[in-house]
Amino acid sequence: MEFIDLKRQYQAIKPSVQKRLSDILERASFVMGKEISELEDSLAHYTGAGHCLTCSSGTDALLLALMAKGVGPGDAVFTTTFTFIATAEVISLLGATPIFVDIDKQTYNIDVWKLRSAILSVKNGGVVAAGVPAGLTAKAIIPVDLFGLCAEYDALEAMAKEFKMFLLEDAAQSFGATLGARMACSFGTMAATSFFPAKPLGCYGDGGAVFCDDKDTMDVLKSLRIHGQGADKYENVRIGINGRMDTMQAAVVLAKMEIFEQEMERRQVVAARYSHGLRGKVVVPHVPAGTRSAWAQYSIQCDNREGMMSALKNKGIPTAIYYPKPLHLQKAFAQLGYERGQFPVAEEIASRIFSLPMHPYLEEKDQDMIIDAICKAS
Ligand SMILES: Cc1ncc(COP(=O)(O)O)c(C=O)c1O
Repeated sequence: MEFIDLKRQYQAIKPSVQKRLSDILERASFVMGKEISELEDSLAHYTGAGHCLTCSSGTDALLLALMAKGVGPGDAVFTTTFTFIATAEVISLLGATPIFVDIDKQTYNIDVWKLRSAILSVKNGGVVAAGVPAGLTAKAIIPVDLFGLCAEYDALEAMAKEFKMFLLEDAAQSFGATLGARMACSFGTMAATSFFPAKPLGCYGDGGAVFCDDKDTMDVLKSLRIHGQGADKYENVRIGINGRMDTMQAAVVLAKMEIFEQEMERRQVVAARYSHGLRGKVVVPHVPAGTRSAWAQYSIQCDNREGMMSALKNKGIPTAIYYPKPLHLQKAFAQLGYERGQFPVAEEIASRIFSLPMHPYLEEKDQDMIIDAICKAS
């Protein structure tokens, strides 16, 4: 059994992928081929964002967005401690300071009340952690739509406006999710997503995209993506990166877009079956009314995680832990001086959570076997 079955998915899109790739090979149009703008139009249309710019990865999408807003030394960027390293890594790479915030115990997304008090603390010169310098400018917030569930954007957008901060949605896991009438990648000032193969919408290597409504910001992003270029290829008006997405990766995503909505519907069915079979035995994911998760992961909590995971492994069922260690406890951020116990919700969840096989091609008989194994082991 696969944790995410990309082989089955390939069978469903094979003719389209092969045709699209062969077209590119015939044209030898490997860099910035026409598929790039075709994909950008398609993604902007699907998400409802004003503009989309594809790039080399989800990490570079976050990096480009922060660079476009001039984030750098002296800036505080607030984010959740319970996420993949990339979310906070880009903040440090630019010389700014990540300010970690605890999570909500039901949604696993950033706790908006704790965020507010962290912002007020920085603004009022309070000590956030021993290694976080005083006098930082509260510049940006990066909420993460963890496991595919949108963060609380009504509150977050209001907070960003109140404190005149820039809001960057990390939608690496949530492409296809909805919150009310809006789709993931349309929240905040900008959004960033990832097309890493395991993501809800993945390519066959690395890829990502930035979304925003503002045309001037999009022009800056375009320049940053290709070495800060100006009107001409060899005119450079700012320091940028080599951040382009390959034409072949864009072609793969275009092929997957043809079946994406069907896949998203299928993910809802798989998740609903899991929750129906597991509720009461383990803690199942909470999906607030009016939201659709993209189900990048279906994650459960239990008291005896290691025992449960090994019982599943013995039956050939793969599982994974996202994430075993919150970012404030990672060595990479040790100089910031965050302490164990500082973010108790994230620390507790990190010790209890793990994820089950989740993809649109999961068969009922396999899912029944997983549910049965968990019920027996709980
Ligand atoms: C929340 C989050 N942010 C950012 C990233 C980075 O994306 P990529 O691997 O495409 O660079 C990931 C990828 O796992 C992620 O899960």
